[in-house]
Amino acid sequence: MPVLLLGVSGGIAVYKAVELTSLLRKRGWEVRVVMTENATRFVTPLTFQTMSRHRVHLDQFALGQDWQVEHIDLVKGVDLAAVVPASANGLAKLAHGIADDLLSTTLLALRCPLLVAPAMNTAMWEHPATRANRETLLARGVQVIAPQGAGELACGDVGAGKLATVEDIAEALEAALRRGESLAGRRVLVTAGGTREPIDPVRYVGNRSSGKMGHAIAQAAQERGAEVTLVTTARLGAPAGVEVVSVATASELLSAVEQRFEAADVLVMAAAVADYRPIEAAPSKIKKTSDRLVIELVPTVDVLTRLAPRKRADQLVVGFAAETDDVLGYAAGKLARKGLDLIVANDVSRADIGFESDANAVSVLDASGVVLEVERAPKAVVAGRILDVVADRLNRP
Ligand code: CTP
Repeated sequence: MPVLLLGVSGGIAVYKAVELTSLLRKRGWEVRVVMTENATRFVTPLTFQTMSRHRVHLDQFALGQDWQVEHIDLVKGVDLAAVVPASANGLAKLAHGIADDLLSTTLLALRCPLLVAPAMNTAMWEHPATRANRETLLARGVQVIAPQGAGELACGDVGAGKLATVEDIAEALEAALRRGESLAGRRVLVTAGGTREPIDPVRYVGNRSSGKMGHAIAQAAQERGAEVTLVTTARLGAPAGVEVVSVATASELLSAVEQRFEAADVLVMAAAVADYRPIEAAPSKIKKTSDRLVIELVPTVDVLTRLAPRKRADQLVVGFAAETDDVLGYAAGKLARKGLDLIVANDVSRADIGFESDANAVSVLDASGVVLEVERAPKAVVAGRILDVVADRLNRP
């Protein structure tokens, strides 16, 4: 039986969360309800208790049945969490990690995917602060079930902000549950960031890759139930449970990936690996002694070209192609030349996406051509879409 932790925050749409609880229970979910104090002003906890057939959780400092710490105990065994309705205040607290009641504290202790279904007045929904909070949450991998586009709101205003329909929310939860298991039992090896090839002890040849895309891929793979190893040059942190292997140079990255390739079901090479490195790193800092300095570069080993030919039939190898022109043409060429199953192409000449940005827009290609186009979106969203294609391929009979 899937377990949902359902957070209910204040707003007139609380009654729809009652309906949702009832619908989900009928569809076989166990629903654990946590209400904010404001939510209890709209609907009594007894209503949720009756619908969910479980005790409703309200007070951070209530004495539980035993000695357990309630917000920590509540998240154990939970498959999915959702906040329905999510108020503007609820989104803001979540975006900033504020934990001042049972619901917000519990949400910080979560280890499972989280969906939020906002409901509020149009002006509040469109306020720059709410927008920024929404972006923050999306970037963190939280799924936002968008409110209905236009409609009459409780306050009489007409516009966006009305809670998504109960049926749509239930569907989104069921899809998220399926997605959360789509890479269960799979080992995913991801590389991220730009390599740094030393010139001397203080300088290096590098590139503009931030590692954000690769880290988002690792997180999305973990959210889909995979066992994830992230070989990275970036110091961005990774979700709990992801094994992180820190590397700096192309050669360190190669050996880290080579050691782990056989055990992996999927290799996603999001790292921007240097194609050339200084022939040797000077042992001490190079001094400014002449007008010209020539650094001789030699090619590095191409990780994909080395490993893809060793691929078993049940393994999948995914490359990235960051291009400034003829994006699809070059990407298709790399896919064929490197023997990849999929390649993710992105246009790094665009200022609004790619390097250092929190957003990206990509095309995913296989040998037959483009299989997925993702419009500009937070990297967490783009990563999720890419991994849905990967999971789909792996799970094909
Ligand atoms: N790659 C790799 N090993 C390298 C360089 C790149 O495995 N030494 C991988 C990257 O991680 C990426 C893919 O190859 O997944 C494409 O990288 P890119 O640098 O765009 O390809 P190149 O073959 O180096 O082509 P270009 O001439 O455009 O640099």
